[in-house]
Parts: sequence; C-alpha cells; structure tokens
Amino acid sequence: MTDTSQKYVAAIDQGTTSSRCIIFDQDGAIVAVDQREHRQIFPRPGWVEHDATEIWSKVQAVVAGALAKAGLRAAQLSALGITNQRETTVLWDRATGKPVHNAIVWQDTRTAALCTELGGTDGQDRFRETTGLPLASYFSGPKAAWLLDHVPGLRGRAERGEIAFGTIDSWLIWNLTGGTEGGVHVTDVTNASRTMLMNLETLQWDSSILAAMNVPEAVLPEIRSSAEVYGTAVGQLEGVPVASALGDQQAAIFGQACYDTGTAKNTYGTGSFLLLNTGSRPVPSKSGLITTLGYKIGDSDPVYCLEGSIAITGALVQWFRDQLGIIRSADEIETLAASVDDNGGAYIVPAFSGLYAPYWRADARGVITGLTRYVTKAHLARAVLEATSWQTREVVDAMYQDSGVPITTLKVDGGMTANQLLMQHQADVLGVPVIRPKVSETTCLGAAYAAGLATGVWGGLDELKAHWQRDVEWSPRMAADVREREYDNWRRAVERSFGWHK
Ligand code: G3P
Repeated sequence: MTDTSQKYVAAIDQGTTSSRCIIFDQDGAIVAVDQREHRQIFPRPGWVEHDATEIWSKVQAVVAGALAKAGLRAAQLSALGITNQRETTVLWDRATGKPVHNAIVWQDTRTAALCTELGGTDGQDRFRETTGLPLASYFSGPKAAWLLDHVPGLRGRAERGEIAFGTIDSWLIWNLTGGTEGGVHVTDVTNASRTMLMNLETLQWDSSILAAMNVPEAVLPEIRSSAEVYGTAVGQLEGVPVASALGDQQAAIFGQACYDTGTAKNTYGTGSFLLLNTGSRPVPSKSGLITTLGYKIGDSDPVYCLEGSIAITGALVQWFRDQLGIIRSADEIETLAASVDDNGGAYIVPAFSGLYAPYWRADARGVITGLTRYVTKAHLARAVLEATSWQTREVVDAMYQDSGVPITTLKVDGGMTANQLLMQHQADVLGVPVIRPKVSETTCLGAAYAAGLATGVWGGLDELKAHWQRDVEWSPRMAADVREREYDNWRRAVERSFGWHK
C-alpha cells in the first residue's frame, strides 16, 4: 500500500547503456526502480551510435515499470525530473518526430578531424574561453555539424526550421510533452554547456561559434534553468509537471549534496566524471580539466564546476566481458581480480575514444603493457579495475593544480562503487578516504531533487543536505613508496598509448 500523505517524485536517467526510472519519496528514499538496456551500435572503429527511437520506447517502458512496482498512478507523482548521458546528439524532423539519423554518442570519435580543422591556427583552445571546453570529438556541436554535412539534404531542411537538434534531455522532454502535438523544445544550462555552442557567462547560444561551426540557430532548443516546469507530460504520465533536466554528472553532484564551493564527487559509470563545485563563477583550467555548469535552480545564480572527464572506466569491464568473454557478468570481475595479490606487472590504458582529461589526445588508442607469460586473466582483471583508479588519480592531481585545494575525502557513487576491491584501490592510490552515501543512486536522486524544488516538494538545499547519509568509507592502506612506483608505471603505460591513431 502506498502512503496517501506522501509526495512522490520520479526521475528518468537516460544513460549510455541503459534507461532507468526511479521513484523517490519525500525523504529521498527509493520507492521503486526499473531499468532497461538499449543497443550499442558500432558502425566503424571509433564510431558509437544509439537509436533515439529505441531510447524513447525504453524510457516509456521503465516509467511504466517503476509505476507498477511502486503501485502508484501517474497522478500521484508531484513531478518528473530528467537526467541523461550528456553530449549525445540527436537531430529529428519536427513534423514527423522521427530522428534523421542514429544519435551520435559522446564517445564517438568521427569528428576528430573536423575538430582539428575548426581549431585552425588557434588549435584545441579556440573556443575554450567562451565555452570552457577544448575542441574534442566528445562535445555535441561538431557532431551536429557532421550530421548536417553528411545526411543528404539536411542542411537546407535545418535552415528552413524543419529540423530540431537536441541532447537526450531535449529529445525526451519534447516527446514527453507531446512531440509533434506541441512538445516543448528546451534544454537546460548543464546540457547546453556540453555542446560547445553556449557562452558560459551569458548562458545563451554564441552566434560567432554557431557561425564558425556552421550550425543554424533554427535547430537549437531554448536554454532554460535546470529546475523549473518546462511543460506538462502527456500519455502515461498525463498531467505530471516535467520540472528538471541536468546532465547525469551534474545531477550526481546535486544528489550528493555538494552545494558548497570546494565539494566534489566522482561517479563511476560507463566513464567516470569527477566534478568540483567552484561556486558562482566559472574557473578556467590550465591542467586539462573542463569548466562546466553545475546547476541552476530556477532564477538563482548558476553554480559552476571544474570537471575531470574520463571516457572509459565501467565500459572497460563491459569490454572485458563482451568483447573478450573473460567473465560472464560484470560482478565476476571482483572475484577474479581478488584471486591474485597484484596486477602481475600489467597495465591497461583504455584509450578507446582517445584520452579525455587531463590529456585530450584524439590520437591515443588502448594499450596493454607489461605482459609476460606470468600474467593471467586474473592479473588482467586487476589491471582493468586499476585503470579506473589511476585515471581518477590523474584528474584529482589536475584539480589540485588548478584549484590549489587538496581533496581530503572523495564522495563516490555509481555502479562500480559496489566493487570493494576497486574502492579500496581508489582510496590507496589517492591516499585519502573514499566515501559512499546510503543512496548511491545519486544521479536519479539529483534530478528528483531539482524537480521537487521546482514544484515545492522540498523547500531548499538545506533540507536536501540533511538527507545525505554516509554508508561506507574506505581508508587508504597502500604504502606511499608502492603508490608512487605504481603511479610511475601507469604514467609510462599512458605514454605508450599516444600516437596510435594517425
Ligand atoms: O559525458 C558523458 C556522460 O554523461 C555519460 O555518463 O553514466 O551514461 O556513462 P554515463
């Protein structure tokens, strides 16, 4: 039986590999979860696509699933929040509602040459001051430009206003609020900050960058705050206010209650993304991080973050399972890795999409170093897990170089935090405690919090902060000399990954 005095908020997390819907109660506790995977399409080496229509149907299915598990009707939801894999780019026909091409996923490297061309004599930093981002295949603007150039006839249709561009938040909100029957075409500041088309200060599309990338303004959604009612859902969620949108990493920092300047979190999903709240001003990075929007709640000032984006962490475990077949389920990696004491001298650098922070090397490709006949699949399983903690160590070092403030503890969340061996290694290589909260579904929680703030379910940030509770803490145990020796090995392995892709 559901409690009729309770208020409930639903969040949809449309991630890289799956879609999830979680319903929370007013204490921020989970009432029901439903999740479904979608297809990963790899048309060529380095290319990654999703079918946006499939994503929309999986989202509808998980919403129905979560409502059924919770025993709730849509009318009992106070609000719906959206959080999403960022940068993934969809272009669709406004009249038919059909995508004009598969979505180009954030990991896709097809725009690497276009990015080099766009950099011209200014190089990778041409748009960094305005957007906070280096020119890299990761971001959406060049992906949209690629589609406009490669889908026959598309540019003309886009210029005539027939085509809509969106990151996944826009695609879902448009469909949720009616699609071809009056769906609203919006995005929020966090998602817009990943397009490389938005000015970080004005929070508006930048006309000079649009001209440089040849993206017509007519395709773009309106940029709104992360927490406000964008519209009302139709269909199975009839009448529910669609009241938040945040990129998944920004939703996670919001769900982790990192509301004070200087607080940080790391989320371990397909990739890992460490965000540090830098307050109401954007802080430029000199150490390979990016400057991004953290969140903007209604009319309040925006909050900015420095971010260390790591493309491949959990995806390496998937690769180990699906492409190599060494394990049958992702959980098995911990048992296999724990069957040996160390990595046997092997290191895996998963530069499958080049390397992101702090290197931004499109020419990097994955390498395994240190192989001898001694190395077994168990050592490789360890190397897979350690790749996540070493990459995190590199972005933590970059955060320190940029901010001058050492991280004294690291709040963590995401699927891989269930892996004890990895979390212990993470604490070991950082030399600071790693802390996981009781509700580790912080991405959905952050989107629900923002939607609940916009609709009066919660009164303010202090109330949300009071929900945060520590669950597990891992303390560092590794001797400092071992840590430094291992880190040196890792960095030498990273150097080997450079220059493989010409
Ligand atoms: O920037 C990419 C990021 O948003 C993807 O997150 O958790 O879906 O892998 P995830």
